[in-house]
Amino acid sequence: MPVTGPVLVVGAAGRLAAAVAHAFAGRAVVRHTRASLDVADAAAVARAAVAAAPEVIVNCAAFNDVDGAEDRPGEAMAVNAFAVRSLARAAEACGATLVHYSTDFVFDGDATAPYIEDAGPAPRSVYAMSKLLGEWFALDAPRAFVLRVESIFGSPAGWSGRRGTLDGIVESIEAHREVRVFTDRTVSPSYVDDVAAATRHLVDEHASPGLYHCVNTGYATWYQVAEEAARILGVAPRLHPVTVDQVSLRAARPRFCALSNRKLAGAGFVMPTWQDGLRRWLAGRKQPAA
Ligand SMILES: NC(=O)c1ccc[n+]([C@@H]2O[C@H](COP(=O)([O-])OP(=O)(O)OC[C@H]3O[C@@H](n4cnc5c(N)ncnc54)[C@H](OP(=O)(O)O)[C@@H]3O)[C@@H](O)[C@H]2O)c1
Repeated sequence: MPVTGPVLVVGAAGRLAAAVAHAFAGRAVVRHTRASLDVADAAAVARAAVAAAPEVIVNCAAFNDVDGAEDRPGEAMAVNAFAVRSLARAAEACGATLVHYSTDFVFDGDATAPYIEDAGPAPRSVYAMSKLLGEWFALDAPRAFVLRVESIFGSPAGWSGRRGTLDGIVESIEAHREVRVFTDRTVSPSYVDDVAAATRHLVDEHASPGLYHCVNTGYATWYQVAEEAARILGVAPRLHPVTVDQVSLRAARPRFCALSNRKLAGAGFVMPTWQDGLRRWLAGRKQPAA
């Protein structure tokens, strides 16, 4: 039986939130942006949950500034960790399922094969630590899905919110600008629409709660991802290869962050390949406005 009760989406002005709200279209979706609900305000979170009486709470709010978190650890912890504790408590009080998103950054990136959910986390930055704490708090809720996503792409055309790495790469390729891309960071990119569809599937199909890797199938270096985007766009790219050591970044970046999504497939949702997601996103962007 699919979800019929209200779905409460917090952090609703974000990119993934927009896709999640779309995926749950047809259901009662209550959206709170930061302006109407600061998730770091525990009392406000409890009040908002009581008012919405949700069957599902989807937490899309996050402090996503990986480098900024090194200077503002309190803010990162408040949003990425302690706010999740409030949401887990609210979910318990309402009898709701909690959906929370985490990150590949919980790993150190020293692996040579895709990480499975049972692999031991080893965060190397404040952001990563705050997200790992958030996972633990979320999983304290009686029924919670923690979906690790990675390198989200697929901003809608004209999107004015925060953009992802791949959005920037594609924009540069299309503008025939030179763009620096890592040759030594390996990722399993997540197409935002596929993450949203997987979220709905897990909730509607009453899958076993817990931790899932929710990335598109396969993995590649950022350089290879950029090459594929250029190939699909039919543009000769001006890619400038760089390594992590050549770029000055405040926070450590894990190098090998391929994630295995086999557990998600076992729950009945087979994620398309990242190349397929990339093709669908780029084809959608090229359609003339209706
Ligand atoms: N994007 C990626 O590549 C990526 C990778 C790994 C994991 N993730 C995870 O995926 C989830 C969704 O990410 P996204 O890409 O959709 O992020 P996003 O577009 O940056 O959206 C995050 C939203 O959270 C809001 N927010 C921040 N602090 C808040 C607060 N105190 N109260 C309420 N809302 C608050 C932000 O509002 P403001 O704009 O006003 O700050 C923003 O609208 C997050 O859990 C993120 O950590 C994303």
